[in-house]
Amino acid sequence: MCAQRLKVTVGVSGGIAAYKSVELVRLLQDAGYDPHVVMTRAAEEFVRPLTFAAITGHKVITSLWSEDAGVGSEADESGIEHINEAQTTQALIVAPATAHVLAKFAHGLADDFLSTMYLATTAPVIMAPAMNVTMWDHPATRANVETLRARGVTFIEPGSGYLACGMVGGGRLADNTAILATLQSVLASANISTNDLTGETVIVTAGGTREAIDPVRFIGNRSSGRMGFALAEAAQRRGARVILIAAPTTIAPPAGCEVICVTSAAEMQAAALQRLNEATIVVMAAAVSDYTVKNATQKLKRDGARTLELEPTADILREISTRRNPGTLVIGFAAETEDILANGRAKLERKGVDAIVVNDVSSPHLGFDSKNNAGTILTKDHEVAIPPTTKAAMAERILDEIKRLRTLPTS
Ligand SMILES: Cc1cc2nc3c(=O)[nH]c(=O)nc-3n(C[C@H](O)[C@H](O)[C@H](O)COP(=O)(O)O)c2cc1C
Repeated sequence: MCAQRLKVTVGVSGGIAAYKSVELVRLLQDAGYDPHVVMTRAAEEFVRPLTFAAITGHKVITSLWSEDAGVGSEADESGIEHINEAQTTQALIVAPATAHVLAKFAHGLADDFLSTMYLATTAPVIMAPAMNVTMWDHPATRANVETLRARGVTFIEPGSGYLACGMVGGGRLADNTAILATLQSVLASANISTNDLTGETVIVTAGGTREAIDPVRFIGNRSSGRMGFALAEAAQRRGARVILIAAPTTIAPPAGCEVICVTSAAEMQAAALQRLNEATIVVMAAAVSDYTVKNATQKLKRDGARTLELEPTADILREISTRRNPGTLVIGFAAETEDILANGRAKLERKGVDAIVVNDVSSPHLGFDSKNNAGTILTKDHEVAIPPTTKAAMAERILDEIKRLRTLPTS
């Protein structure tokens, strides 16, 4: 399957942090986007356009009046390049955004390519300011930010720390990973997608199974279902048909997916195997109990100490992996608290799956029951670290990696 990459434009303005945009462009590429770069005149004092051109494989736009802009230029049938760039991009990210660029955007000045393009685009605009702390705190800059925010521009606030000017304070360009995560969530809320999973049928398992102790009590786990639901939602938005097999969760499933509700590990196993034939991708994000309770038939009475007899549940991931159709990709999750990567690699081998997403669930702020997550996607040939981010952004990264696996020759 040929994945069509989303075009995003990175506007680089003339701040000392311009060199960090080189890494940002690389990161965007790794995340599956097709970045194009527009530079202000001042930005060229800090980084050469050639650097961006070499990385992106596209001409870097530096002027409204450059020789190859205008009539007959490569990407422009209408003959007006800033309009073409403004209309064909899916998002404009300005990083770093100088105080000057903020002022120009806020006042609608259009004296170079970037500021003219800003006025001409209807795509979402994201700005990551970076400047000296006094410039950042200046009422003029603050007012410009508020004006732009009120017009729908998304800001990624600069961080605090040591600044290039020697001062310490706010004004430091946000991390590139935060810029990427913001782009992903802005595109997701604008319903902009690549449709690169069109033609795929994805089974996603989500939630935490419950094993009956007796007719009213159960053994459960802390899974909220958020990670699986984020995957189902993102896969659907990217064009896939989604079958969501949901164990009990604390939130509502995304609209538009076919939802099969199950409770126990045995029900999840039955549902997954029953629909496996339809799947081209299976992502098993549910937290499935490893044990079930033997003889859970009668309600237990309080009459002294008791011992529950547990028996292992079926290994659904292994079974799905063994029984899948040729070409179907299977991705598992591993929640680990120690030796995270080593345990993840062992699980990848043991289960015979295409990828394992390992989460460190020892942190109280990530993973189970949280809106955020972090982890590492392990495949036979690759390792993608996902720093703490939203589950929506993590879902996009996992699907990007699934897309990459699709392009590899089958072994
Ligand atoms: C060495 C140096 C570093 C600069 N760093 C920044 C910066 O980090 N942020 C900023 O807003 N302006 C910075 N400036 C000032 C801008 O380059 C200047 O305002 C310029 O007009 C910005 O043009 P542009 O916004 O069109 O790129 C710096 C200037 C110099 C000479």
